[in-house]
Amino acid sequence: MQTNYNLKSFNTFGIAAIAAHYAAIHHPDELPQLLSQVDKATPRLILGGGSNLLLPDNYPGLVIHNCIQFIESKEVADNEVIVRAGGGVNWHQLVLWSLQQGYGGLENMALIPGTVGAAPIQNIGAYGREIKDVFVELEAQELETEAQHTFFLEDCQFGYRDSIFKQAANRHRYLITSVSFRLSRHHHSLYTHYGDIQEQLKKWGIHSPTPQDVAAAVIEIRRSKLPDWRIYGNAGSFFKNPVISLEHFQKLQNQFPNIPSYPADNHQVKVPAGWLIDQSGWKGQRRGAVGCYERQALVIVNHGGATAKEILAFSTLIREDVQEKYGIELEREVNAIL
Ligand code: EPU
Repeated sequence: MQTNYNLKSFNTFGIAAIAAHYAAIHHPDELPQLLSQVDKATPRLILGGGSNLLLPDNYPGLVIHNCIQFIESKEVADNEVIVRAGGGVNWHQLVLWSLQQGYGGLENMALIPGTVGAAPIQNIGAYGREIKDVFVELEAQELETEAQHTFFLEDCQFGYRDSIFKQAANRHRYLITSVSFRLSRHHHSLYTHYGDIQEQLKKWGIHSPTPQDVAAAVIEIRRSKLPDWRIYGNAGSFFKNPVISLEHFQKLQNQFPNIPSYPADNHQVKVPAGWLIDQSGWKGQRRGAVGCYERQALVIVNHGGATAKEILAFSTLIREDVQEKYGIELEREVNAIL
């Protein structure tokens, strides 16, 4: 265990947060010994890839860095393989590994930053696919009791960027030691209906794409739209795409005929937050070290040396503006440790 540890290189916002205590865990067995070294009352934070996290300048507790690394696979049927990966495995490395083995299922989620263990917490997703679509189960160790738990699909209560692990009582309660996915060897069902993917494949002259082609398209699109956190610190989409009532949407549509939308559950409508922020004139704007990314308005960037307070203050300006113009309250997608 280390003390006064700088987490700058462990969070993609690039915030120079100092953790009172820090330890990397490479095997679940190391956890009891680590926890015995700190007071029960010490707050704990489980760190994965730090890619959806906004850290304070000083974190007074123990940061447990999930570095559990392994990938294994088991063929369970002619066209079905179960891949199980350690919670500390880099997500994109798992995607690349599965494609190298010829397994399809993760291709739409290529290049999402973060780790395998963090992926179910917010049910990561992109281009029409979410982790819940391929999820089988996860294993977790409860910090408080050191008990091992298995969570199956129905236990996780996956929703849009949501799961049971996001509920207040469960935050930093479990170390997710492994996650298992159901992947396929023959690829009948590729999800290429998103406009961006179709355009990219067309540009390359690909008519019958393989999972590798879809991943390549996703990588190309993400690289062109989303900033590289090594250059501009960021945590991807800062807000969720809001879901509003049909009535509210129709009112907005009368006023703003170009407003994009997607159907959501219960006859509601999902509106891209990026569009609302962009139309409010924030794209490319900057206040001190914090800015709204010039190619995707949903991403807030750290131009260097920004603190969580400054980033939150900037995001509040955006929220208030969108609220005033559209009557929509944006909800943060990024996990802010306050
Ligand atoms: N738009 C603009 N201006 C912008 C950005 C977006 O007008 O500056 C409009 C466009 O109409 C565009 C639409 O918003 O067609 C949607 O934009 P985009 O396809 O870039 O996707 P998004 O809704 O902004 C979501 C996820 C991303 C995911 C992409 C692709 C959320 C909060 N974000 O973004 O996930 O990669 O779809 O599926 O759901 C993340 O969660 O961190 C993340 C990056």
